[in-house]
Amino acid sequence: MDHFIYRDGQLYCEQVPVEDIVRQVGTPAYIYSLATLQTHYQRIAEAFAPLHPLICYSVKSCGNLAILAALRACGSGFDVVSGGELFRARRAGADPSKIVFAGVGKTDPEINDALDAGIGWFNIESEEEFWNLERLAAQKSVHTRAALRVNPDVTSHGTHVKTLTGKKDTKFGVDIDRAEEFYVQAAAATHVRLNALHLHIGSPIKTVQPYVDAIGKALQLIQRLRQRGIRVDTIDIGGGFAAFYEGNEAPHAEVYAAAIVPLLQNTGLKVLLEPGRSISCNAGILVSRVQYVKQGGRRKFIIVDAAMNDLIRPTLYESYHFIWPTAPTHLPASRLSTLRSPDDELVDVVGPICESGDYFAQDRHLPPLRRGDLLALFSAGAYGFAMSSQYNARPRAVEILVDGSNWRIIRKRESHEDLIRGEE
Ligand code: LLP
Repeated sequence: MDHFIYRDGQLYCEQVPVEDIVRQVGTPAYIYSLATLQTHYQRIAEAFAPLHPLICYSVKSCGNLAILAALRACGSGFDVVSGGELFRARRAGADPSKIVFAGVGKTDPEINDALDAGIGWFNIESEEEFWNLERLAAQKSVHTRAALRVNPDVTSHGTHVKTLTGKKDTKFGVDIDRAEEFYVQAAAATHVRLNALHLHIGSPIKTVQPYVDAIGKALQLIQRLRQRGIRVDTIDIGGGFAAFYEGNEAPHAEVYAAAIVPLLQNTGLKVLLEPGRSISCNAGILVSRVQYVKQGGRRKFIIVDAAMNDLIRPTLYESYHFIWPTAPTHLPASRLSTLRSPDDELVDVVGPICESGDYFAQDRHLPPLRRGDLLALFSAGAYGFAMSSQYNARPRAVEILVDGSNWRIIRKRESHEDLIRGEE
């Protein structure tokens, strides 16, 4: 699952004690394991190998340049959702023909940048957007390819309502019952070839059935289009594969592949995947130091120096992140919150921000903690730093990449000057 391992009573990232790193860079700190990142990428690549897919890592999950460069070196393309992500991917050396650009509200400058870069596909989310792309491509006298993002109207249990995207009445894509006519009309375009189909049904999707349902509907649509003389040669099945937060709750890449590969294997379609979380989530932890311990009513609060501005997922989605000291008195048998020792206490782990919603865990069993102890928040590589902000004028955390027994800063901790940049 990852390369964060307890050895001799302390937490290591690969070969490096986490405490050694934070002694030098301070807290809060995001620490990523290169080996974990590569392993998760390779597992997906191997599981889907019969389809020879183009894997386009989803930049939004963790877009640090060093992370992108490491995945590019593995052969990855990129799924981007803004001009900024396109900039990041290109700066990390991405092959533009391996970039797909999604998003319901692409602006003209963003589209023009992507046309200039010569990206692989625009993932189109509405009729208006398609004809706007045609207009802009014609203005530049360039030709490009596009996929229609189809909303297949499938649901997925266990996915938070805020991250479910494949259901009718969400803002994403074009309803599947409107898609056929869309392709027919788009065939009249002269600068954009709409010969691909894009799906992204949500994140995380913890079972394979929603993919089977969505791909089944997409293949029927492609068949109907073929009968009308319209050829779709590429299918992008999006991202959404789950990661490990509580332990073994996520299907492995092979389990998704076992259901998906047979559906697509003999279709002749080129296949794209857009995994984000399943690659980056388990590759990162957030390390924070206990500032104070206090009792408030019946609750015991562990106040740490990271906050919701550093990792917003617990309060935004009620998501579970396993938390454990970096130098614990006893080891975690599992990632679930269970009593492991009679000494364990039921606590809330909270940050210093002025909102009651600023918490990482509520009613969590943890060993007794004291001021100065270090805590690791696991499975924080995806949508962790990427969703962080400067709320309460808190400089964003430092990011570290570990490779075996070496480590380096891949993003400096922000300074107070960074907080006011552009204001004076
Ligand atoms: N492709 C598209 C078009 C997407 O919108 C997304 C994620 C992905 C791929 C990658 O999905 P992944 O493989 O990472 O599940 N902030 C939320 C997750 C939002 C996902 C948004 N779209 C969270 O922290 O859980």
